[in-house]
Amino acid sequence: MLAIIGGTGVYQLLGESEERELRTPYGDVTVTLSRLANGREVIFAPRHGKGHSVPPHRLPSRALLFGLHEAGVRAILSTSAVGALSTDLAPGTLALLGDFMDFTKSRETTFHNGPDVVHQDVTEAYCPTLRGALRDTAKELGIALHPRDVVYVCTEGPRFETPSEIRAYRMLGGDVVGMTQVPEVVLARELGIHYAGVALVTNLAAGVEGSRPSHREVLELMAHSGETVSRLLLGCAERVGEGPACNQCEVPEGMS
Ligand code: HPA
Repeated sequence: MLAIIGGTGVYQLLGESEERELRTPYGDVTVTLSRLANGREVIFAPRHGKGHSVPPHRLPSRALLFGLHEAGVRAILSTSAVGALSTDLAPGTLALLGDFMDFTKSRETTFHNGPDVVHQDVTEAYCPTLRGALRDTAKELGIALHPRDVVYVCTEGPRFETPSEIRAYRMLGGDVVGMTQVPEVVLARELGIHYAGVALVTNLAAGVEGSRPSHREVLELMAHSGETVSRLLLGCAERVGEGPACNQCEVPEGMS
């Protein structure tokens, strides 16, 4: 089974659906079960909960990922709102995530808290096969994607960044900034779930061309482009069926 994790604003992704409570040792989360046009079941999980009520630094990521895995999910397509670290990525641009940098501070970022010591390889955190499927789908549907997969800088939030922080992230090689990819992508990889992410640039990050980001601006851009992102994710979900033919995202041997 495949799941779609929607970020800010992508709530009306699916038609008829049924709510499901996923109960886990890490807490409970509510997702919706629906069907794609080809009849396959798909799970939709609004990342910030119903009504966008959970802030990014308090997302129950372990409950969500664990619950999805228990429900039989083997592949995840996600979408996230991001700020651009340079004017190369104009607001409205869609880009695939290629790598991340973690600047979060207070989150539970692993399922491996001992006694086994596990060092998860995240050299290729985003599933290369799912990324390829997203590119193929975008081409087929005539949806423009940024030519290069981008580096996502994950900040703690909920505040936006300072212009100095943004300058530093740009110097370090980041392309976009957001608050939600970590630990989501890491936890997916720990569970052996294939994971790919589409970033929607909602704004220029703080200080880029004098920008002052606002939550209103983020929501407005998401409302405007949410439908395109939805078409891309659903089209890709139909294309990959039960999951991508990929042997790179499996659960690794534990190291102890
Ligand atoms: N910074 C952090 N997160 C974001 C931004 C931003 O500028 N835009 C959308 N999510």
